[in-house]
Amino acid sequence: LDKPIKVGIIGMGTVGSGVVKILIENRDHITQQAGVSVDISRIVVKNPEKNRAVDIDPYLLSTDIHELINDPTVPLIVELVGCPNGSSAIAKDWILQALAQNKHVVTANKEVIAKYGTQLLEAAEKSAGGLYYEASVAGGIPIIKTLQESLAGNRIQSIMGIINGTTNYMLTQMTRFNQSFDSVLKEAQRLGYAEADPTSDVEGYDAAYKIAILSSIAFQTKVPVESVHCEGITKITAEDIQNAANLGYVIKLVAIAKRLKDGIQVRVHPTFIPKTHPLASVNDAFNAIFLQGDAVGDLMLYGKGAGMLPTGSAVIADIIDAVRNIRFNCKPRLSVPNKTEHISSINDTVSRFYINTKVVDKPGVLADIATALGEENVSLQSVIQMGIDHNDPVSLVFITHEVKEINLRKALEKVSQLPTVYKIANVIRVEGANINGGTN
Ligand code: HSE
Repeated sequence: LDKPIKVGIIGMGTVGSGVVKILIENRDHITQQAGVSVDISRIVVKNPEKNRAVDIDPYLLSTDIHELINDPTVPLIVELVGCPNGSSAIAKDWILQALAQNKHVVTANKEVIAKYGTQLLEAAEKSAGGLYYEASVAGGIPIIKTLQESLAGNRIQSIMGIINGTTNYMLTQMTRFNQSFDSVLKEAQRLGYAEADPTSDVEGYDAAYKIAILSSIAFQTKVPVESVHCEGITKITAEDIQNAANLGYVIKLVAIAKRLKDGIQVRVHPTFIPKTHPLASVNDAFNAIFLQGDAVGDLMLYGKGAGMLPTGSAVIADIIDAVRNIRFNCKPRLSVPNKTEHISSINDTVSRFYINTKVVDKPGVLADIATALGEENVSLQSVIQMGIDHNDPVSLVFITHEVKEINLRKALEKVSQLPTVYKIANVIRVEGANINGGTN
């Protein structure tokens, strides 16, 4: 065997603890996989006194990041700080400094990759080292290597992912127990599924970072995070979930990226998914990514998208990959997304919609709404009336055929002005109708 390779770790939170645990417990296996033993040089933490999930020799702990990044005996840096309080620019600078020293860098940091991926990959191209970021999307699910390597020969047509475990757990609980968003959020926070500040998860930002990364790899193009249309789950009610169930659907927070004739579309929003679609049975905190390639057809990966060991699994795979490269003095097979595909506006998106209206219960109301929708070319697939007869307001619930979003919005403006319509309670996109070949 060659000389052991030293790895320096920055951050010892949940993911860092998982990585250290796997490095210690699977030491022999990792040595065999990497062809050389992988030794922890040191672990940079903010507070060395803190109690941690894994026992480690205190002498391994340090507070000096720059001393680690500048240590010529450490060819591999593993950055696992996450992004507390918008610190992504700081983590990006550490990665750039390490690459400038020709080191290999593994990161689990989705915010850094989503925001600065192009800059970092360009720096990695110039470095003798490399950048590895499998753990930045969907934790233990190996989706990045799958797209970059296993599916490299495909033109990817579409990706639909449940890639936020917190919101999937919450929607699953709302569906199972007919609970409100607020009560499920409180319970999820009590159990540690949701953060004290749940904004990034419930507003869809976490999923937007992840789909920006995946679509950029799948379509080999730059996808600025700001171009991802993003809606969270805060407006989903127990009533919407019940209506979905009655119509044969479940509601999931889905990240979607599709190839169009003239560009791509990338979006995150709550979505009606038919109960028969493979994504519909992805429950609790699980993640799954369903994609369509022109050669491979339909493909789905399912697993744990967070947690110390699942995310650690992805980081360790990158560490082994990097160590193999270091041994043979080579670099990862990089592909810097270099195209600038047109990213379509949400107004131009074509999909089906669920519309929940609250109306006066009397003859002619349904006809008035159907006429207003029809005037904007919105055609209806199904209509049901929910609620108790003659007990105002009642719900008229519609599923439309495919329609351009801008037309739907114009039609809804007209509907909301009808004197017999109290309000439009919710509008949710419907996806996944024909999974064998179609893209919607
Ligand atoms: N907060 C994320 C989730 C995990 O709930 O899936 C980290 O990406």
